[in-house]
Amino acid sequence: MNTDLKELNPDRPNIITTEIDAISFYRKMDAKATIEEMIEGKYVIVEEFYSNGLDLLVELRRTLLETYSDSSFQGQRDYRAAFRKASHRLLIKVEHNVLAVKKCPDIGWLKQLYPDVSDFYISYPEVQGMNSSWQWYEKGLKVKTLNLSLHPYYGTYFPTRFDHIVLFDKWLTTYKGSKKKAVDIGVGCGVLSFQLVRKGFKNIFASDTNKNAIIGVAKELNRLDFNKKIDLSHGDLFDTYEDKADLIVFNPPWLLAKHELEEGIDRAMYYEDGLFDRFFEEAKKHLAEDGKLVLIFSNLAQVVDRNAAHPIKDELENNSRFKLETFLQSDVKGLSQRTRRSSQRSNEKVELWVLTAKE
Ligand SMILES: C[S@@+](CC[C@H](N)C(=O)[O-])C[C@H]1O[C@@H](n2cnc3c(N)ncnc32)[C@H](O)[C@@H]1O
Repeated sequence: MNTDLKELNPDRPNIITTEIDAISFYRKMDAKATIEEMIEGKYVIVEEFYSNGLDLLVELRRTLLETYSDSSFQGQRDYRAAFRKASHRLLIKVEHNVLAVKKCPDIGWLKQLYPDVSDFYISYPEVQGMNSSWQWYEKGLKVKTLNLSLHPYYGTYFPTRFDHIVLFDKWLTTYKGSKKKAVDIGVGCGVLSFQLVRKGFKNIFASDTNKNAIIGVAKELNRLDFNKKIDLSHGDLFDTYEDKADLIVFNPPWLLAKHELEEGIDRAMYYEDGLFDRFFEEAKKHLAEDGKLVLIFSNLAQVVDRNAAHPIKDELENNSRFKLETFLQSDVKGLSQRTRRSSQRSNEKVELWVLTAKE
């Protein structure tokens, strides 16, 4: 790891470190009246029990749905925006890096992500997100093809189903080319890079635009003793890579963003216009003569909208950079972070595209 990476500070939820003008909420208080004030713009602090915050969020949902009853796409979007805005005014106090209420979860991120401050207020929904993330981090994510558990860092994409990993593993088993150098674009929690190590690749360059992904994989490299095999880089696509690789793999975001992309985990699911063109252009420069370019993708965008673009098919049809060598496809079995909102998942398939350079 280079010195720049040692200096990376993780992205973390905003906190309030000053005293604030807020209502303290206790169990016996009138939840509906408190919610009205919160919607008006007042901060509310959850006191006494952690579950008091959950009760308030239930009441907030109920109250907002009375106003936002329109079930159209735009109506639901407005409701979600209003919920997000108001719910972030619900705060919880942290003292000595632990939640200052009874019967609360133990969330190690409150210490790990805030080594510089011990007492603060943080929004309740952020705490809920941290709690879920901490449980995955502590428990670990079992990856059968690797025969080990990964510990995804806060704010990092990790797979909640494994069809694409099984597909990549299957293809790697048949791979007969050189295993000197590989590149993993968008390393996430490291799973594809670790598969490459397990299949005998000697050196892997792995990048990600998400700082937390890089910080998390750096910790995993120490734990798994893979430090000598994987060079991490926080940056866009091939970033500082100057070499040519025998194999380049990218499991990119699968959906074209219709909103302004945020930094961090948003970019695991959504891509901005132009990402694939830039990727293919750079991949062409960094692929060794007999190298393989592997993309893990899905028909998810087409499942949602039949006319949606497919950036890999578009590349093959419209440009002269690459040709198709192998195409593998498999049904999707479980629930994924990327598809949770879709009810048409039954037709979803995960795809593995292997391309080689055109002369
Ligand atoms: C779907 S996730 C895949 C993560 C991991 N490789 C896996 O298979 O589970 C896509 C990853 O690509 C990263 N990413 C998105 N755009 C990128 C870019 N321009 N350069 C590098 N990484 C990028 C995201 O931050 C995210 O970690």
